[in-house]
Amino acid sequence: MAVTRRLPAPCEEELGRRYEARLNPEDLPLGAEALQEALRSSDAVLCTVTDRLDGAVLAAEPLRARILANFGVGFNHIDLDAARARGLRVTNTPDVLTEDTADLAVTLMLMVARRAGEGERHVRARAWSGWRPTHMLGTRISGKTLGLVGFGRIARAVARRAHHGFGMRVLFHDPYPPPPEVAAELGAELRPSLEALLAEADVVSLHCPATPETRHLIDAARLRTFQPHALLVNSARGDVVDEPALAEALRAGRLAGAGLDVYEREPRVTEELLGMENVVLLPHLGSATRESRVAMGRRAIANLDAFFAGATLPDAVA
Ligand code: DGY
Repeated sequence: MAVTRRLPAPCEEELGRRYEARLNPEDLPLGAEALQEALRSSDAVLCTVTDRLDGAVLAAEPLRARILANFGVGFNHIDLDAARARGLRVTNTPDVLTEDTADLAVTLMLMVARRAGEGERHVRARAWSGWRPTHMLGTRISGKTLGLVGFGRIARAVARRAHHGFGMRVLFHDPYPPPPEVAAELGAELRPSLEALLAEADVVSLHCPATPETRHLIDAARLRTFQPHALLVNSARGDVVDEPALAEALRAGRLAGAGLDVYEREPRVTEELLGMENVVLLPHLGSATRESRVAMGRRAIANLDAFFAGATLPDAVA
């Protein structure tokens, strides 16, 4: 089995005990050739978001691998059609990272609203001259309106925190809404049109998967529908936002700030955003707690175990 990145020690130990696992102690991301080599030489590949498993890579010959066990819930880096065409099964690791990723989305929302990144830079630069009534005023979050784009597991966990914790009014848009009682329990109201949600929200938080349909869902035109005081939070996938259009909208004052954990061309970040004080930038930390990452590894291993036992895959996506 090929494991493409370093995993938390308990997961590597478990893999080592039970499988002939080829680990990646240097932890360097694998390029196309190294991924093809893994597909040619292993029965299974335990991969991550940094592995670009597109049609060209999956065309590896002779193909030995039969399963891609992804360490992560998002799988837009894997061409599922190409995987199916090659007879590869694909699994992911849902549920175990939901609460931590929701916490991160709320962290971003609060950091942008309360200018936490800017404040931290100010103190570290030894520029702080002391308390004063007008210093670094931010925006109150309690009682404001949160618009959730997508209403899956992570969005619902954010809704719970926002509604029950911060007394926020919660709106959501999702082409596949849950039964009304699920939304009611979270105090969340459906907006059938995305534009209506964007126009009403004080904070917009993205929670949709990256698919061809959601690519640049937040583009220059939709950014014009935000209220000028609104904040955008993206802890989903970078492709959902047209990053240069976001930078331009922030520069033009069409929205007041953004909190980003994911980027269109990771690990690259649009240069202009790097210089903006009203933008909080985190390095794809959504699920980055020891608890989630160990649980993700165990979930990937559970999928591999099921595959090699000929059992139903707990988290099959292809
Ligand atoms: C996820 O689980 O999708 C994280 O973003 C890492 O891939």
